[in-house]
Amino acid sequence: MSLKMWIFSVIVATSVATVLASPCSMQNRTSNLLNCITGIKTRFMDNDAFWFGSQYATRCPLKGASYDPKCTNLRPDTADSFGTRFFQSSAIDSLDRYLSVRFESIGRNYTGCGTTYTWDGKERVNIDVDPLSDDVETPWFVRNTPNITWSSNATDYYTLIVYDAGYMICHGLYVNVRGNDLSSGQVVKEYHGPKRSFILQNPYIFLLFKHSQPVNVTAELKNVILNPNWSQKWPIYDFAQNLNLGDPVAVNWVVVTGDEYGAAMSESFGLFFCPDFSTKALHRVPRPFFSNSTQLSVWLDVTMTTTSLNYPVCCNKFTFGAGARKLDPIGNRIYHTADVRSEAIVTYSIKKAGFLPSNFTGEMHSIVTMDPDVPSPTVGTQERPLLHGLFINIRDGNFSTGELVLNYSGPAPPDNKPHYYYFMLYRHVVPLNATAMPWYSSDPSNGRYLFDINRLVSDHNMTLVGATWLRATTDDYVTYRLVAREPGNEASLCAKYPGYSKPCPTSGSTKAFVINNVPMLVVGLCNIMFMAFFALH
Ligand SMILES: *[C@@H]1O[C@H](CO)[C@@H](O)[C@H](O)[C@H]1NC(C)=O
Ligand SMILES: *[C@@H]1O[C@H](CO)[C@@H](O)[C@H](O)[C@H]1NC(C)=O
Ligand SMILES: *[C@@H]1O[C@H](CO)[C@@H](O)[C@H](O)[C@H]1NC(C)=O
Ligand SMILES: *[C@@H]1O[C@H](CO)[C@@H](O)[C@H](O)[C@H]1NC(C)=O
Ligand SMILES: *[C@@H]1O[C@H](CO)[C@@H](O)[C@H](O)[C@H]1NC(C)=O
Ligand SMILES: *[C@@H]1O[C@H](CO)[C@@H](O)[C@H](O)[C@H]1NC(C)=O
Ligand SMILES: *[C@@H]1O[C@H](CO)[C@@H](O)[C@H](O)[C@H]1NC(C)=O
Ligand SMILES: *[C@@H]1O[C@H](CO)[C@@H](O)[C@H](O)[C@H]1NC(C)=O
Ligand SMILES: *[C@@H]1O[C@H](CO)[C@@H](O)[C@H](O)[C@H]1NC(C)=O
Ligand SMILES: *[C@@H]1O[C@H](CO)[C@@H](O)[C@H](O)[C@H]1NC(C)=O
Ligand SMILES: *[C@@H]1O[C@H](CO)[C@@H](O)[C@H](O)[C@H]1NC(C)=O
Ligand SMILES: *[C@@H]1O[C@H](CO)[C@@H](O)[C@H](O)[C@H]1NC(C)=O
Repeated sequence: MSLKMWIFSVIVATSVATVLASPCSMQNRTSNLLNCITGIKTRFMDNDAFWFGSQYATRCPLKGASYDPKCTNLRPDTADSFGTRFFQSSAIDSLDRYLSVRFESIGRNYTGCGTTYTWDGKERVNIDVDPLSDDVETPWFVRNTPNITWSSNATDYYTLIVYDAGYMICHGLYVNVRGNDLSSGQVVKEYHGPKRSFILQNPYIFLLFKHSQPVNVTAELKNVILNPNWSQKWPIYDFAQNLNLGDPVAVNWVVVTGDEYGAAMSESFGLFFCPDFSTKALHRVPRPFFSNSTQLSVWLDVTMTTTSLNYPVCCNKFTFGAGARKLDPIGNRIYHTADVRSEAIVTYSIKKAGFLPSNFTGEMHSIVTMDPDVPSPTVGTQERPLLHGLFINIRDGNFSTGELVLNYSGPAPPDNKPHYYYFMLYRHVVPLNATAMPWYSSDPSNGRYLFDINRLVSDHNMTLVGATWLRATTDDYVTYRLVAREPGNEASLCAKYPGYSKPCPTSGSTKAFVINNVPMLVVGLCNIMFMAFFALH
């Protein structure tokens, strides 16, 4: 069997396996509903199923006392199951039907944490929520009111509660629904999606109650469930008791973890978790200067501001507009090297994960900029990169207090491969000695080659807290710089350029490429435009 076929069959096998693994998959619950409901009852009472269960004490030894939003827990001393968390109960016998919850969404189309996802208009995602699967969704895909159905009698009334089971927040409340048509009921609170902004798997539960008489939700009762206070531990139970709803006849839940869409929403109300997503992006490419357990706690913004630039290369002229470009680590973009050149004015800003505004009083940071992808082992390696900037001893998060040891120098990768240029933010207690920094390089006279980042970090007990980066490859501005540096190699460096000859053709036939005011979001496309242009010629 060919490798391709083998991979294909493995993929088929795993996807079939996940579909069949759950007794509540659409197929299985149709053929054996009882099996599915039994599974739901067991999971409902499992106090090891979710983050607020028995795993909580290990993950949050301080039990939320440190005001870490990831550890906030209404019932920190109890390893909760859904049953104990909502109903003070260790058994649920009332379930007798399946609550079908289906979300429909489109592919990602949002901006958050400095990146923009653009939907191509094609991807459409249908999620059939299966409480016994391992599926984990993100806020973007469950933001619309789902289609919720259940088997019903037209004469009965139903009440549906949607609740954030971890943080005890109501996400939807419909009462006096006739049959299974949600729109026939009274909307006490319209469904709103999770605003999960950090990476923690949190369940959102859907509870269906059946009653034979309509209920009246008074303002007081509305408060019980919509605005529970911290001493009122069972808002759903209290609400259901008050209205005589009995126990739920059907439940379902969807597990949601954060995405940048959620992070952007929560940032707007002062909770900031973008470092979770730069952490995730950082781990896409492992490097010897961080470990796979590195968790960033600070978001580092780096903005490059350039004036406009004209330069001739290989009988072509290029013009770049002035602009300010904020690096986008999650988008992992390839920048045109002219836009991030050495002459750029580089500005930094930092924000801590957690409650805004951040407070950096009493802390010290340093920023190391480096390229680990250098193709020459005497200049830079993965372990000992080429230094592209060094800015140290920044106190209290105030960048004007820092000492600039080495000015930022822009990318000039010679090997037609995209290199990463990392800006790593370290926190440390003991200040670094600016005059000793060149000794971390293999050549103290320039201080840049084979920079021993790991030794610097261990010598000063530095903690990596933030990271951003840009990528850049060999482009016409690099060629321009290489030709200036090695005029003897002009012919070979210029061979791929249209219209190149030595001397250049008369000015009338010289091509001019003019790119003015390149907007920030399409900067990454410049390369593609140029490459396409070259391909056409
Ligand atoms: C789901 O149903 C299939 C048959 O359709 C069965 O083979 C499988 O064991 C079921 N899975 C579970 C977990 O019940
Ligand atoms: C993506 O979102 C933008 C901004 O909200 C909108 O203008 C655009 O039409 C959306 N794209 C698609 C394909 O829906
Ligand atoms: C919800 O799902 C049901 C059953 O599949 C379907 O009949 C109904 O049209 C759907 N409603 C909406 C609003 O999509
Ligand atoms: C509908 O009512 C009948 C008669 O009371 C009952 O047997 C049946 O279980 C009910 N079905 C549902 C889905 O509630
Ligand atoms: C609901 O309760 C309120 C307050 O007790 C009362 O004023 C109102 O008439 C009741 N509404 C219905 C429809 O019973
Ligand atoms: C909080 O809820 C408890 C229990 O329902 C109640 O006794 C108390 O008065 C409430 N406190 C506030 C401030 O609303
Ligand atoms: C992370 O690093 C540890 C220790 O080096 C290693 O055992 C583990 O397999 C690594 N995990 C991944 C996902 O690479
Ligand atoms: C910032 O932190 C310092 C030291 O922890 C503290 O003294 C100061 O009051 C804090 N500032 C604000 C605005 O919270
Ligand atoms: C930042 O540091 C500079 C230089 O020490 C100082 O002049 C300035 O007042 C500081 N800014 C703030 C906001 O503390
Ligand atoms: C950095 O560049 C600026 C502007 O060219 C220059 O004035 C300064 O001396 C440089 N600093 C170092 C440490 O090279
Ligand atoms: C800083 O390093 C230089 C050169 O290694 C050394 O001469 C100097 O004493 C050091 N300064 C401090 C404060 O350690
Ligand atoms: C190094 O830093 C860590 C955290 O910043 C701290 O817990 C530890 O005590 C420090 N170790 C030394 C030797 O300074």
